[in-house]
Amino acid sequence: MDGANVMERCDALARISEEQGFLVRPYGSDAMREVNETVAGWMRGAGMGVRTDAIGNLIGRYEGTGEGTFVLGSHLDTVRDAGKYDGPLGVLTALACVERLHDRDERLPFAVEVAAFADEEGLRFGTTYLGSSHYAGAFDAKLLELEDRNGVTLADAVRTFAGDPESLAGTNSAPENAIGYCEVHIEQGPVLEERDLPVGGVSAITGLSRVQAGFSGSAGHAGTVPMEGRKDALCAAAELVLEAEAAARAEPGSVATVGEMSVRPGAGNVIPGNVDLSLDIRHGDDEVRGRLRDHLEGRAGEIAEGRGCELRWQVRQESVAVPADQHLVALLSCAIEEAGLEALRLPSGAGHDAAQMAVVCPVAMLFVRCEGGVSHNPAESVEEEDVAVTIDVMDRFLGLVADERRGR
Ligand code: GLV
Ligand code: MN
Ligand code: MN
Repeated sequence: MDGANVMERCDALARISEEQGFLVRPYGSDAMREVNETVAGWMRGAGMGVRTDAIGNLIGRYEGTGEGTFVLGSHLDTVRDAGKYDGPLGVLTALACVERLHDRDERLPFAVEVAAFADEEGLRFGTTYLGSSHYAGAFDAKLLELEDRNGVTLADAVRTFAGDPESLAGTNSAPENAIGYCEVHIEQGPVLEERDLPVGGVSAITGLSRVQAGFSGSAGHAGTVPMEGRKDALCAAAELVLEAEAAARAEPGSVATVGEMSVRPGAGNVIPGNVDLSLDIRHGDDEVRGRLRDHLEGRAGEIAEGRGCELRWQVRQESVAVPADQHLVALLSCAIEEAGLEALRLPSGAGHDAAQMAVVCPVAMLFVRCEGGVSHNPAESVEEEDVAVTIDVMDRFLGLVADERRGR
């Protein structure tokens, strides 16, 4: 029953998009405002008090009988042309757990907060975890100067959407007495499907570097400027794309992706004079990731020099790899086994808000099988039965945490 309800709610939120014909919900958009209002209504219906913090995270709170707050959640923003489940599934399964408590008229010996973070994907400002970094008290004030494609700064976006940007750094909106965080998320990979398991515990979350790079060359006439001596910024960028691919292939366990590029002035008969591109670099070992990032910066410099171009290189964000808390993972494994399933543990190559929450409390994550491991794609798909299992496992998990707090 609650599996079906979560599926329907994921469908409903997927209809709230900033653009027609596909799903995209960037930070600070009208679509984000609308999903927050919708989810806030569901939270109130589950007996929760609701607040919004200074960056626009939506937080529902279900009071308990004692000290401490256990936080569940994920994010409500999306990538461009997104699927329905990356983020919302974690928020809505968390809400379903609270609804169960509310329906049973049950209070745990701690409060439960459901955090719906306002920006995890970093679509608008090229930097992830904006929402959870503020909630956790780890927001970096330098980010406020970043601009989106239209030249709007993050500071202005925060002012318009939520609150005072100057209040974000050095403060947190998580409760002081947070005792743990557990995030449900689609796996975004094929392992659970291959192992024929609906859910699995997460052992660690990858570290990542997000770089904004660019080449400036010389725009010119496509018909009259000889090939010799051109300063084609797009050719330089193309070399860097292939270099990133080759370097990541040569370093086992690493991935590197250029997912965004803008070419200016952008006409078929003009040699590209300027290119900006994103570069996303990941590895489970922070040292290896750092080495790869430095290598690519060096190669980008050589490519620029060889083509008479100027290089721009800005590391917009780095986050370290985060292991899940061994004790919480063990409790999660117990809950999975109590539900009659094998408790597999697998690492996450995707970034998650749990990585920021690790600053304030022990964290764990539960992955849910998704079809073909497809994600960041409208074809994202999960089964209702797996969602029902997820809610059951999370309900049991909260029960185990409660038993521990009661000293049983
Ligand atoms: C978020 O989905 C990320 O891993 O970038
Ligand atoms: Mn994502
Ligand atoms: Mn996500």
